[in-house]
This record gives sequence, structure tokens and C-alpha cells, in this order.
Amino acid sequence: MEALLLGVGLLLGAYVLVYYNLVKAPPCRGLASLRGRTAVVTGANSGIGKMTALELARRGARVVLACRSRERGEAAAFDLRQESGNNEVIFMTLDLASLASVRAFATVFLSSEPRLDILIHNAGISSCGRTREPFNLLLRVNHIGPFLLTHLLLPRLKTSAPSRVVVVSSAAHRRGRLDFTRLDRPVVGWRQELRAYADSKLANVLFARELATQLEGTGVTCYAAHPGPVNSELFLRHVPGWLRPLLRPLAWLVLRAPRGGAQTPLYCALQEGIEPLSGRYFANCHVEEVLPVARDDRAAHRLWEASRKLAGLGPGEDAEFDEDSQPEDPGTPSSPSSPHPEGPTASELYPSPQSSTGRSTVTRRIPVKDELEPQAC
Ligand SMILES: NC(=O)c1ccc[n+]([C@@H]2O[C@H](COP(=O)([O-])OP(=O)(O)OC[C@H]3O[C@@H](n4cnc5c(N)ncnc54)[C@H](OP(=O)(O)O)[C@@H]3O)[C@@H](O)[C@H]2O)c1
Repeated sequence: MEALLLGVGLLLGAYVLVYYNLVKAPPCRGLASLRGRTAVVTGANSGIGKMTALELARRGARVVLACRSRERGEAAAFDLRQESGNNEVIFMTLDLASLASVRAFATVFLSSEPRLDILIHNAGISSCGRTREPFNLLLRVNHIGPFLLTHLLLPRLKTSAPSRVVVVSSAAHRRGRLDFTRLDRPVVGWRQELRAYADSKLANVLFARELATQLEGTGVTCYAAHPGPVNSELFLRHVPGWLRPLLRPLAWLVLRAPRGGAQTPLYCALQEGIEPLSGRYFANCHVEEVLPVARDDRAAHRLWEASRKLAGLGPGEDAEFDEDSQPEDPGTPSSPSSPHPEGPTASELYPSPQSSTGRSTVTRRIPVKDELEPQAC
């Protein structure tokens, strides 16, 4: 009996340790009001994306849910309007697997929305399911679609600057290895899918890095965010039906709720003063060091060029990246977030020549070794 009690006690203790160190997400506490700002969240009809959109709506933003299914997207928009009390939550169709759909979304968005302050690339897949495409579907949905969307929406991000792009990546990027000779090869079988998922998440980290370089001085900053291990449908929907009832309770115990998973993407979208960390990777609301493979600037640039081709970008469509820094509209608010009350911000710690007015236009890359002190988020 004593041995049994001891065993139960040890198990409980181990669970509490795991829960507080790995499962529980630090909350993003910024109090920023987002009234007058517009955000786009892709894949916002479920999981992390839905919780991210809810928080943005609660703060008063106009939120566009960019989802592939009209039915699920409209239903989510209805839920979020009810829960947030904000009527400015709308659905627009976006299927990242189709470049034509990405272009159609951009056309509709640009013709109807005068601002874009926050773009969150959240949508993602971990498997091709039963879909058979003649290209790498995981790379298409998780990286190429978002790459094209960023290009097409960039004019609006620039005129709304300071604005932010958040790419929801994953710690799985550490297992990624990009093979440029077969980037777009179709993926077959679960082993190849696991590998392709990790590769696509590495592409997210390298994309954020190169995008930050390309956008230096524009007032548009970008971040790669790892949401943590989250209890969503991402992997579960591909598990055989008979196994799901067994895995669900386990997932509930050891994984974060989607609301917890939304905290780091929200931190990257809202936290005041992280602009000098543009291009970096965040987890648990902190900037994190990445492996050499994920901070390889040559690979990041090579991926950029390969992605342009795979996204079918024409020569003129990269013009936004060739321009010099755009002057900012003096009437625009200084950052998506209100000033953080505690201590100096990163912009104050690392002032740039442009920041003499105190406005958050700094996009200078902080060298990898220089880390900011962890901030409360
Ligand atoms: N869950 C985790 O543990 C975890 C860990 C690290 C990173 N992440 C990342 O977090 C992000 C969100 O994942 P989640 O866990 O919240 O999973 P989820 O609940 O499965 O949400 C994924 C969302 O992406 C959408 N989506 C899928 N394919 C799409 C397409 N072709 N076009 C547009 N939207 C599409 C889905 O729409 P439908 O409902 O129509 O399928 C869904 O709304 C992903 O990028 C994932 O890689 C998750």
C-alpha cells in the first residue's frame, strides 16, 4: 500500500513538474488596444489560429480570418464576434495549397482593406492526408503560400508601418534539412511527411530571417514563433480513428491548450520594443537561439530565390523589395502595442539612427550572440 501511494505521489510530482516547465504557457500580458488596426490570421477557424484571432479581436482589432473552408471560416467568425463582442471579425477565402487562391485573396483584401498592421501566417498541415499533388504539399501550404501572400500584401504592410509579420513555425524545424535539388518533390508516406513538415518549419525560420533583411528600414518587422506542444487537430486528425479516443486524454494532459499556444505568436505581434529582434525565432515569449542550420544567411537567401520561382512570382512582382526605406505617415500609431510600462524596451537598449523620435521603426538585425534580457510578455 505504501509503495502504491509513493508511486502515485511520484507520478503526480512528475506531472506537476512537466506541466509547469513544459506544458503551461507564459501568458502574453501586453495591454495594447488594437482599435483602428487590422490583422489577418491564416487558418483561424481552429486551434492556435482561432485563439490568436480571439485575442486580437478582444483588443479591438479588425480581424480577417483567412480560411480555406467558407463553412468553417464563417462559423469561426460568428463564434469570435460573439466571444469578443467585436463585430469587426470577418472571413475571407484563402487556400494556401493553391497559388491562384492566394492571389485571389490578395486581390480581394487589397481592394477592400485600407490597412494591414499584423499578418499572422498560422495555417499549417502536418500531413497530406489523402490528397495527392504533383508538388510538395507541405512546403506549399506551410511556406510557399505564405511567402507569396507576404509579397502580395507587402504594399499594405508598408503603408501601415510600423507593422508586423509573424510566421508560426515549430521546434520541429531543428530536424529540418533543406535539399534544394528536390524542394518541391511530392511527399509520400508518413516518414517523408514527418521530414517534409520539419523542412517546411525550417523554411519558416529562414524565411523570417531573410524577410527581416529585405525589409530593413521599412518599419515592417517579422518574427518566427514556436507555439509549444499544443493539443490541436494538427496531428490527431491523421491518427487512425480507433486510436484517437486513447490519445485525446493523454494529449489533454501533456499538451498546451490552443489558447496557451497562441501566446508566443501574440507576443511577436504585439510586444513593444522587439523590433531590433526582427528575423529572430521566439518560443515561450522569449527570443531563442537557433541551430546554425536555421541561421544560415546563405541558405536563407537561396530559399528566397527558390521560393520566388515556386510561387510563380514575376520579375516585376519583387519591386517592393528593391525600394529604399519608405517614409512613414506621421499620423500612424507608433507600434501595434502600447508602451510597455516595465523597464527599458529593446529599442531603448539598442537605439538606431532612425529611432531618435522614439518611434519603433528599428529593424537592424541584432547579432546572434547578443540576446536581450528575457522580458515579461
Ligand atoms: N499543435 C502543435 O503542437 C504545434 C506545434 C508547433 C507548431 N504548430 C504550428 O501551429 C500552426 C497552427 O496549428 P494548430 O496546431 O492550430 O493546427 P490546426 O488546429 O490543425 O489548425 C491548422 C489550421 O490551418 C488551416 N489550413 C490547413 N490547410 C490549409 C490551407 N491549404 N489553406 C488555408 N488554411 C489551411 C486549417 O484549416 P482546416 O480546418 O480547413 O483544415 C486550420 O484552420 C501550424 O502552422 C503548425 O505547424 C503547431
